[in-house]
Amino acid sequence: MLRIYQEADYAAMSRRAAHVIAAEVIRRPNCVLGLATGSTPVGTYQQLTAWNQQGDLSFREVRTVNLDEYKGLAPTHDQSYRYFMQTNLFDHIDIDPAATNVPDGLAADPDAECARYDALVASLGYADLQLLGLGRNGHIGFNEPCDRFVKETHVVDLTESTIEANARFFASRDDVPRQALTMGIGCIMAARRILLIASGDDKAEALYNAFCGPITPACPASILQLHGDVVVVGDKAALSKLTAAGVSVCG
Ligand code: GLP
Repeated sequence: MLRIYQEADYAAMSRRAAHVIAAEVIRRPNCVLGLATGSTPVGTYQQLTAWNQQGDLSFREVRTVNLDEYKGLAPTHDQSYRYFMQTNLFDHIDIDPAATNVPDGLAADPDAECARYDALVASLGYADLQLLGLGRNGHIGFNEPCDRFVKETHVVDLTESTIEANARFFASRDDVPRQALTMGIGCIMAARRILLIASGDDKAEALYNAFCGPITPACPASILQLHGDVVVVGDKAALSKLTAAGVSVCG
């Protein structure tokens, strides 16, 4: 089933997405949450933090698996995804730090690290709920457009468009890592439920291609058409091409 929530703006999108995650945590306090980075989930994490600090939501028993990490960045690097998760969520909530997992970008043997990460996610029984952002080119995690869907966690060469899009977070374009470790499509699709969030008109085309276009590794998010339980939460701008095509939305 695909359910699409259309929200007025980024704040409303963030609140709705936080509700979907909170519902999972309340229903299953020891659930496995698959988490994402990027600017899109920041507001969602702020809302979850607020509910946690107000005593409305506890993450004490929650386990987490993040999608990806830049190859070569230390966990303490302010652009690493481990650092992002600490500063945007984990440091502010009651989660057990030992229950949070992000691929190790500094692993001496990145392929071995990918295999370890796959085995770890499998040992947790895969995510109960996997949060996803969306790249402007349709990437999910760091599964970039290519000629096949890569199932396993793997080392990926980032595309020029992703390097360009992510350069805003670095001092210069040259500082953006060229490679990343990313959960593969297999792990993502093994999640019981997917929550994809998108904001802004620069995501409209990717979102349209993901759900109305052909299922193709040229738009990695299009694989989600084959998943049985997907919730999309987007603002009006991000959903504009889907709604113009007559796709029905709630909210
Ligand atoms: C990065 C991340 C993705 C994220 C995407 C979109 O490349 N690896 O997980 O979804 O960018 O980022 P943003 O939310 O900043 O647009």
